[in-house]
Order: sequence, then C-alpha cells, then structure tokens
Amino acid sequence: MQTRLGVNVDHVATIRQARGTLYPDPVTAASMAELAGAHQITIHLREDRRHIQDRDLRIMRETVQTRLNLEMASTQEMLEIALAVRPDCVTLVPEKREEQTTEGGLNVADATDELAATCDRLMAAGIDVSLFIDPDSRSIEASSRLDVHAIELHTGDYAEAADEDTRNHELKRLQQAASLAASCSLMVAAGHGLDYVNTPEVAAIPEVEELNIGHSIVARSIFVGFDQAVREMLALMRSA
Ligand code: PXP
Repeated sequence: MQTRLGVNVDHVATIRQARGTLYPDPVTAASMAELAGAHQITIHLREDRRHIQDRDLRIMRETVQTRLNLEMASTQEMLEIALAVRPDCVTLVPEKREEQTTEGGLNVADATDELAATCDRLMAAGIDVSLFIDPDSRSIEASSRLDVHAIELHTGDYAEAADEDTRNHELKRLQQAASLAASCSLMVAAGHGLDYVNTPEVAAIPEVEELNIGHSIVARSIFVGFDQAVREMLALMRSA
C-alpha cells in the first residue's frame, strides 16, 4: 500500500511573514502540492501566528481538495477555530512559545481531562483526531483509551540521531510503536525532521500509513521548484 504524503506548507508562510508581504502564498503551495500528487495538506496554526495565519486556514478549507490536517495546541481558542472551520483532521500537538519548532510529543499518559474533552468535542463534530506522540507504549496505550482515530509518531529523535547506532535504535522504537499502535486499531502517521535521505526507512514501516513532511520539501523547492520537490518525495516513498 502506498504511504500517503501530507505536505506541510507552514514554511512557505514563514518566508512570507519574514517580510510581511502577500507572497509566497501557502494557499498556492497547497494547490501545487495537490497537483503534484500530495494526499493531504498539513498546516500548524500556532498561538503566536508565526507562520500560518487564520486567513490561510479559512481559504484552504475552501480550496484544498484532498484532506486538510490542522495541527494545533489543545486550547480553547484553537478548539473554537477548529469547530468553526472544520478541517478533515486535527492533529493535537504540544506547543511552547519559545520553541523553534515542535519539541517532543504530547504527554498523553499524564494528560488531564481537558485533553480528553478537546478530543471529544472535535470527534463529536465529525473531525478525525490524531495525537502527535513520542514512540513509546505508554503514550500509545493512553491514546487508544481516548478513542481517537490516529496517532502521529514523532520522528525527531530518529531524524536528529548523531550516529548510526542511535539512528538504528530510534528506527526500532518507531517500528515497535507503529506495530503496537496498529494493534490498538489506531491509524499510524509519522513526521518531523523527515528529509530526502531519512524518509525511506520510515516509509518502509508497514503500519505507517501517512507521513507529514514540510521543512525539507519547502527547502528543496527553492532549487528545484515546488512541484518537483513534492514529486521527488512521493517517488522516494513509493520506492521504499
Ligand atoms: N508533523 C507534526 C505534528 C509537526 O508538528 C510538524 C512540524 O510542524 C511536521 C509533521 C512537519 O515537520 P517538518 O517540517 O520537520 O517536516
């Protein structure tokens, strides 16, 4: 089965926000990603609006023809936005203002009733819920208890491994976590830090059905164009 690719277009908006211009528009990037074969568009509306803006989310809800996956923190503000805009899927992520990018997965095992309430409200509105978690059994079992549709395994430790032994160890953790999650009837996605070198091994994990990839695709698009950057990632995943 072909692993699906969710293209994260946040960093197209990062370039726009750096100058406060109208370009480059992440909405255009989303359409181009779909034309190149992406199966989903992923965006993270952060509390500080450092890249994606509310307007981007609203327009993409109207224009995305595949699936729109909104990454967000479990806060009252974001919950209201999600319920109003109704993306196809919400991926709940931890968020700290000072972080450069999402660091670590959600602490689902020690989560309060508030996380469960957010999941319930979203699911009651017909929105699929995915939880971005570290590849460990506690987080997976806790996610399963929340009865969500999916989990997304944080691949950051794998992607940033300093040497081959660590990388192999982290890959094994991802493989075991994917297998456990699938046995709990959770759809398994993965993402963070995946690039044109480290993606095939993750795409080859049989239980991983979806990868969400952003930074490496946007970075490559500067040199080869957005269409080709998406197509090259899809080809890599297909050959994995
Ligand atoms: N998945 C999740 C849950 C994320 O938070 C991010 C980063 O926004 C990604 C995937 C994409 O990560 P990257 O930009 O490193 O490919």
